Amino acid sequence: MKKIIDRKFCVAPMMGYTTPYARNLYRILSKKTFLFSEMIATKTLIYSKNTQSVIANEQQNPIALQVGGSEYDDLKLSSKLAYELNYDEINLNVGCPSKAVQKGSFGACLMQDKKLVRNCLEAMQFNKNIEVSIKCRIGLGKEFNYDFFEDFIDEILKSGIRLVYVHARNAILTGISPKGNRNIPPLNYNFVSKIKSKYPDITFILNGGIDSIEGALELSNKHDGVMLGRLIQNNPFCLKDVDCLFYNETNKYTISERTIQDYFNYIRPKIGKDSIYRLLSPLLNIFFGIPDSKQFKIDIHSKIKDHNFDTLEKIFLKFVNEKKLLIN
Ligand SMILES: Cc1cc2nc3c(=O)[nH]c(=O)nc-3n(C[C@H](O)[C@H](O)[C@H](O)COP(=O)(O)O)c2cc1C
Repeated sequence: MKKIIDRKFCVAPMMGYTTPYARNLYRILSKKTFLFSEMIATKTLIYSKNTQSVIANEQQNPIALQVGGSEYDDLKLSSKLAYELNYDEINLNVGCPSKAVQKGSFGACLMQDKKLVRNCLEAMQFNKNIEVSIKCRIGLGKEFNYDFFEDFIDEILKSGIRLVYVHARNAILTGISPKGNRNIPPLNYNFVSKIKSKYPDITFILNGGIDSIEGALELSNKHDGVMLGRLIQNNPFCLKDVDCLFYNETNKYTISERTIQDYFNYIRPKIGKDSIYRLLSPLLNIFFGIPDSKQFKIDIHSKIKDHNFDTLEKIFLKFVNEKKLLIN
């Protein structure tokens, strides 16, 4: 059975960042935020043996697994695997503009073939127990074209999906990098409002350029929900306010020594199975914007070299103890 989940606040899929470790930190800070895995190519998901450090889902629900692919059988099987891994949702990436992804015939280039995307989404819904969704752009190339976007949405909704995440800028498939594609094409939130008025029963989640929790809250009142990427990449600790602000929870989460202990208890059994940097990097953002944290950072980086987890935990604990008021 599909669960009813409120996606008012989502953390965007980010390759190299929304690792199982980062997601665990996000879940410590917010019980309600809707999470995403990094994108995984369907062929990798199906055939590679070393996918755990991308797809492991240790009770991080509510959460979506994002896949990239355009072969129906692979997508069908991916849907089954996502369900078995206890994901609530499987999401098709139709927004990534990178050359490698275009070569594999997935990502944003699929917006050129709306019928193929519809068929992909139909294949993914073969398993009725898992929610199927898409993350797309508002168009391709340099010019805005609302009709193109509307035609695309008209077609893909025929697949029966009810959930669309929109990175509200075009993708430019040649001449600029994926990074440039997150900044250079201008944002246009109106496209999302306009398509919502055509399809009031479909959930459209707004993504792109939301750079503060306050701004996200304002936008979440005008849209079905918001999805944030780089703000969380830079400062995951702002998730501590999400449950109260977006989901009306009464108990505010406070960052404390407990936060550090919970995180270390989670990563300790994984030591040696993945790189120390991947295990610790989500926590390193705790220094974001906190004055006089330079010495802590120097100490942390020198202990990372020594692989000394107990000392690392003690430094983080000392930092939180000293800076409690500033962090919260
Ligand atoms: C480092 C990084 C990796 C990303 N990887 C993915 C990805 O795997 N799948 C995807 O759909 N989008 C990916 N994105 C795009 C984000 O999901 C999001 O759409 C984009 O950053 C715009 O949102 P923002 O302005 O809140 O950052 C990535 C973005 C960043 C910064």
